[in-house]
Amino acid sequence: MLDSTFLKDRLVVITGGGTGLGKSMAEACAARGAHIAIAGRRKDVLESAAHDISKHGTTVTPITCDVRIPEQVQNMTDMLIGKYGRIDALINNAAGNFICPAENLSVNGWNSVVNIVLNGTFYCSSSVGKTMIKNGGGTIINIVATYAWASEPGVVHSASAKAGVLAMTRTLAAEWAKYHIRVNAIAPGAIRTEGTDKNLWGDENQRERMNRRIPMRRFGQPDDVSNSLLFLLSDYSNYITGEVITVDGGGWVGKGTYEMVDVTKD
Ligand code: COA
Repeated sequence: MLDSTFLKDRLVVITGGGTGLGKSMAEACAARGAHIAIAGRRKDVLESAAHDISKHGTTVTPITCDVRIPEQVQNMTDMLIGKYGRIDALINNAAGNFICPAENLSVNGWNSVVNIVLNGTFYCSSSVGKTMIKNGGGTIINIVATYAWASEPGVVHSASAKAGVLAMTRTLAAEWAKYHIRVNAIAPGAIRTEGTDKNLWGDENQRERMNRRIPMRRFGQPDDVSNSLLFLLSDYSNYITGEVITVDGGGWVGKGTYEMVDVTKD
C-alpha cells in the first residue's frame, strides 16, 4: 500500500508531540521519512522524545511552545520556516482535559481547556496555514474526540472545545481547498498509552468495564490512530477534506439507549 518513504523530506509539525499519541504519530511519520517538529510546554519531555524519534534517521526539532500563547505559536512557525522553508503538515494534537461535573467547573478550569484545545488549534492553524497558502498547499489534521458530537458527562469543557475544532476543521477545509490545503480530523476512542493508563483506566476493573463498552472488545493501540493519520497525509486521501475518521472500535456507535441489552455479548 503506502510507500515506506512517502513522507521523505516533508516537514510534519505535531503539537503535544512529546508524549502519548502525539509522540507515536511523530514516530510513525519519521519512520516514513518525514522531518519532525514537536511542540509542547515541557523542554525536558520534548528533548527526550526528540532523541527517541530521531532514531528513524530524520531531523527532529523540539520547540517549547504553549499553544495558548499566539506569540509563541508565531515564533514556532517563523523558526521552522527559517529552518526548512516550508511546513507540509500540521497535526493539532495538543490537548488538556480533566473529568469534572459541569456544576463544579470553575471559569478558570473552563478557560484553560478551551484555550488549549479550541484557541490553540486556531492559533496554530492560522499561523501555519498562512505559510501553506503562500507555499502552495499542505495538510492539517486535528485530533478531536467522539464526544464532540456524542456527548460525555464530565467533560463539558473538552467536549465543547472539540466540537468547535470539528466545526473549524470543516470550515477551514471549505475555505482553504482553493489553496490546496486539506483539513481533516481523527477522533480516537479509548487508546492505551502510558498517560491514559495512568489517568483514565488505572485498574483492571476499569479496563474490563471499558472493554465491555467497545463493540470490537479491545482497546485501541497508538498504531491504530497513526495508520489513519498516515492515510490522511498520503495521496490515497487526495480527494478527502473536511472529514473526520473515527478510530474507536465502534465505541460510539455501540452507545445505545437500551443499556440493559448488551449487544456486544458473545
Ligand atoms: N478538576 C477540577 N478543576 C481542575 C482540575 C480538575 N482535575 N484540574 C485543573 N482544574 C482547574 C483548576 O482548579 C484551575 O481553576 P481555579 O483557578 O478556578 O481553581 C484551572 O483548572 C486551571 O488549573 P491549572 O492547573 O492552572 O491549569 P493549567 O492551565 O496549568 O493546565 C490542564 C490545565 C488541563 C492542562 C491540566 O489540568 C492538566 O495538566 N491535565 C492533565 C494532562 C492532560 O490534560 N493531558 C491531555 C489529556 S487529553
